[in-house]
Amino acid sequence: MCGIVGYTGSSQAIGYLLEGLKTLEYRGYDSAGVAVLGTDGALHGVKCAGRVATLVERCETANLVGTTGIAHTRWATHGAPTDRNSHPHRDCSGRIAVVHNGIIENYRELRAYLQRGGHTLVSETDSEVIAHLIEDAWAGPSAGNLVGAVRNAVRRLEGSWALAVVCADAPGEIVCARNGSPLVVASTSEGAYAASDVTPLASVTSHVIQLENGQLARLERGGRVTVFDAEGAEVDVPSTIDIDWDASAATLGGYADFMAKEIAEQPEAIERLLSGRMGAHGVTLDELSMTGDELASVDRVYLIACGTSYHVSLIARTLIQTWAKVPVICDYASEFNYENDVLVTPHTLGVIITQSGETADTLTAARRLKGMGCKVFAITNVLGSTAARESDGVLYVQAGPEVCVASTKAYTAQMVASALLALRLAEAQGQMERAEVERRYGDLCRIPDLIREVISRSWQDKRAAQLFRRAHSALFLGRGVNATTALEGALKLKEISYLHAEAYPAGEMKHGPIALLEPGFPVVAIVPEDRVHDKTVSNIQEVIARGAVCVAVATDGDEAVASLVEHVLWIPHVPDELLVPIVAVVHLQMLARHVALLRGCDVDKPRNLAKSVTVE
Ligand code: M6R
Repeated sequence: MCGIVGYTGSSQAIGYLLEGLKTLEYRGYDSAGVAVLGTDGALHGVKCAGRVATLVERCETANLVGTTGIAHTRWATHGAPTDRNSHPHRDCSGRIAVVHNGIIENYRELRAYLQRGGHTLVSETDSEVIAHLIEDAWAGPSAGNLVGAVRNAVRRLEGSWALAVVCADAPGEIVCARNGSPLVVASTSEGAYAASDVTPLASVTSHVIQLENGQLARLERGGRVTVFDAEGAEVDVPSTIDIDWDASAATLGGYADFMAKEIAEQPEAIERLLSGRMGAHGVTLDELSMTGDELASVDRVYLIACGTSYHVSLIARTLIQTWAKVPVICDYASEFNYENDVLVTPHTLGVIITQSGETADTLTAARRLKGMGCKVFAITNVLGSTAARESDGVLYVQAGPEVCVASTKAYTAQMVASALLALRLAEAQGQMERAEVERRYGDLCRIPDLIREVISRSWQDKRAAQLFRRAHSALFLGRGVNATTALEGALKLKEISYLHAEAYPAGEMKHGPIALLEPGFPVVAIVPEDRVHDKTVSNIQEVIARGAVCVAVATDGDEAVASLVEHVLWIPHVPDELLVPIVAVVHLQMLARHVALLRGCDVDKPRNLAKSVTVE
């Protein structure tokens, strides 16, 4: 949450800072700001509530000339999204400016301490204290040493932070610090860069340095980057990662919005992920970093994730339990972290699923599992993310940058990655013959074309979306693996159209949610051809009997369903019913998008949300 960008070099900073903020806007977009060290030796800046576009407009008349600067796009935690609470925050002199991502948990004590010391704090944020702590250090023990001043300041902080700091009295320098919140830096011949993630760096370099927790970095105008440990000792430049994302991957490329683009990219993303995965010895999943014997001894899998990725874990549970016959426990990371009774055996495999690889709750859960002696494997999309670096093995889903806050291509790619994991485990556990593994891999390879077919039918979703235009609520129903498709469909709809949506296993409807039904109430039923098809059809009958209006996701040719419901979102025949969720959800993604557009919502940047949830 919150996007940070910094630049010091030979070019004017403002252009890169604003472009960088645009690419990071998915991390938060309720306010934004920039500070540039001017040629007059003072810091100049603009900050305001609203989107980066508002900041860009304001900057047009602000004449921010200078080659060193920092910028921020905010997702508010402490203090409303107002001009005053926007970053950068300054010290009393106005000569030190700080941008922060994270939460300072002891900010109240620090604020009181600083006020007692005569500091004037002007915002309601937790972040502002950092600027004043640096001011104290700069005036005292770390005079003239910005790295030292920042190091002194962060020693007093509790919580999480990624920081970029500029000081008018340390021209050409940016100091960064990281603890818990992600931060990458890069050195180029044009200058040195800092950013919350690799997205804004893809246009300037293909090599970035991922700061580790506790580290600080000094960025100099000549492009030099020096990394320090928490004690202030210089360390060898650690863990450089190569970005293989081309910068244009994070642009709209002719699509109306990123959600449309990312929905369309799903077939290619899955093809990339599946390519070369069937080797001479079965499914190739070397990234697991576990031997066949180790995999054979796994007696339990713990799947931990949040949000849409949690829905992936529910599908993964079914795939692993059905194919590998290994018991699986799924948990929300935010719940798992505070549970007393965690059922871990000496041979439990922990799996975290996270698109961004930076979700704070998921990272905490992974550390907890590792602390219990589990091997932890990450299924993630973002190269070099904290989840990838801290796990024992990582499977990159290779979906490319996902910019829209609502996850689409990462969701389907993560489900396919989970299927590969399930197949590998099934092989290692001796639960599946080679021929069956090959057949199931072949089924997976058919998914991209099936999704292409669904995407070509988006007109069906556009038409059905009219039903939701003025609705206040909607119910999603499905059975078995498609109870999860219902959950994901409801999440997509509420997330981007602000329409309340609830999902239930279809058979559970009669135990409560049926009371919601009244004439005109929209219900979405996922009812593909599978072994629970007829049961779900009965539930659709119950819906219709109460005057509710039903939209069904059904398999081509299902006249029984077509004759009952208002709209059908048709899917082609899927060779394995356990794989239907990967295909069926695409209709629900498109439906949610069309509903959101009809209701005048910004599909890419839904209110209150951020793409990467780096606070607990
Ligand atoms: O990056 P992660 O997969 O860990 O993110 C988890 C959730 O925050 C995320 O899936 C969220 O629910 C999405 N906005 C859903 O579209």
